[in-house]
Amino acid sequence: MRRPRTLLVGCGGREHALGVALAKSEAPLFVAGPWRNPGLTRLAREYLDTPVEAGEAIASWARSRSVELAVLGPDAAVAAGVADALRAQGIPTVGPGKAAARLESSKSFARAFMEKHRIPGLPRYRSVERAEDLPGAAAELDGPFVVKPSGLTAGKGVWVQGSDFQSTEEGLAYARRLLEQRREPVVLEERLEGEEFSLMAFVDGQRLAPMPLVQDYKRALEGNLGPNTGGMGSYSERDHLLPFVPESDRDQALAILERSVRALRDDGMEYRGVLYGGFLLTAQGPRLLEYNARFGDPEALNVLTLFDSTDFADLLLGVATGSLESSHVGFRQRATVTKYLAPPGYPNAPRPGGIVRLDLGALEELAISVYYASATAGPRPGEVVLGSSRGLALVGEASARHEAEARVEEGLREVRGDYLVRHDIAKAADVKLRVERMERLRSLPPFQPERNPTRSGPAPPPVFV
Ligand code: GLY
Repeated sequence: MRRPRTLLVGCGGREHALGVALAKSEAPLFVAGPWRNPGLTRLAREYLDTPVEAGEAIASWARSRSVELAVLGPDAAVAAGVADALRAQGIPTVGPGKAAARLESSKSFARAFMEKHRIPGLPRYRSVERAEDLPGAAAELDGPFVVKPSGLTAGKGVWVQGSDFQSTEEGLAYARRLLEQRREPVVLEERLEGEEFSLMAFVDGQRLAPMPLVQDYKRALEGNLGPNTGGMGSYSERDHLLPFVPESDRDQALAILERSVRALRDDGMEYRGVLYGGFLLTAQGPRLLEYNARFGDPEALNVLTLFDSTDFADLLLGVATGSLESSHVGFRQRATVTKYLAPPGYPNAPRPGGIVRLDLGALEELAISVYYASATAGPRPGEVVLGSSRGLALVGEASARHEAEARVEEGLREVRGDYLVRHDIAKAADVKLRVERMERLRSLPPFQPERNPTRSGPAPPPVFV
C-alpha cells in the first residue's frame, strides 16, 4: 500500500516520537523545524530549517514536495495558524486552525467558551484585563488561587498559591507583572485540590478516539518541587487508566472533551487534530485545568511507544480528512515510563552546550526508546549536545510500571554527562502518595471548606469546590 508523503512540523521529543511511528508505517517523511534533531535527521528525506510558525513558507515547501499529509507538533505552530496555511494548499492536516487553537493559545477564550457552552469541569475563574480589577477578582474567588497568563508560556507561566507564591499580595503582584509585560488578559482561578492527569484524543472533526491516560511530572525537581517545566517525565499504566483515576472519572473527562468538540462545531469550527485535556481529579470529579490543541510532550512519548495497530499514517490521514476509523487506533496493554534529561539549571537558568554520551548498543539491548529533543549531534557517534530545553528522553515499556521504571533507571546508567533528571518519576513511593492523597480527599465530608491560609482575622465564609 502506498503511504502518504508526510510533513512533520517541529523537531522536539514529541516530533521525534511521531517521526518514529510514521517511519514504522513507511511514510516518506519531510521535517520542518528550527534545529537538526539527530533522530529526525536520520528519518527525514528532506529537512527544512525554519521557525515552526512560518506557515506560508512551510506550506509552499510542502506543496513543492507533493506532501499529502501534514502533522503539527508544537503549540507555537498550531497557535500561529500553520494548519490554515497548509489546508489552503490542499494538504490534509493534523492540527486545528488558528481559531480553534485558541482553546490553548488563549486561556481567557477557553474559559469563556466553556462557560458559554456550559461544558462541565470548569473551575471558578475571573479573566482580568486591567490591573485595578485584580484585587476584586481575587476577593471574589475568596480562597487560594492560581494565576495563569492567557497565552502560551511553554508550560512555565502558571503560578499556584502555596507553591509558587504564598500571599494574595504576591500572587497579585505576579498577575500585575504579566498584565504589564504580556499585554493580554490574565486568568485567576480557584486553586482546587486533587491530582493531575492528561487525556489526549484523536479528533476528526466529529469523532474522538481516546489514548491511554498519562501522568505528567511538571515540576523541575524531585519531590515535585521547583518551578514548572514543559514536563520532566511521565508514565502510563497497563490498563490505560491511572492508579488514582478509575474508569468512571476517565469517562467523565472524555465526555468533557466530546462536549468541547461539539461546541466548537456549533461555533463553526471543525477540529481535526489531537485534543488534550489537562485535568485535575478532585473529590467531586474531573475539572479541566487547560486544553492543549496538540499532542502532549512528554505524554506523546508514552502513548506513541505503545501504538499498536495497522498503520499510524492511515490513522492520521483519517484524522486529517474527517474519516477516523476506530480499527486504526490500538495501544498495547503495557506500562510505559518516560524520563527527560535537561541541561543543568533548566528551566529558569539553563546552561546549554554540554555533551552527553549514550551507549546506544546498551540502550537497545535494554529495549529503551531514545527520543531526541532540544539536542543536536555531537562531535562523535553516540554524542549529543544539549540545547537550553529538555534534551532527550528515555522511554521504557514493560508489563508493569515498576519494571518499566527500573528499566529506564538502568538505561540512565548508559548516559554520561552533566544533566538534570528526576529519578523519582513513576516510582512506587510517589505514586502511592498520589493515591493516598486522592483517597483522603474522597473520604473528606462533601463540601469541605477551603480557607485562604494567608488571610488574617476572622475565618472567611466557606468556599465550596
Ligand atoms: N506535558 C504538558 C504539555 O505538553 O503541555
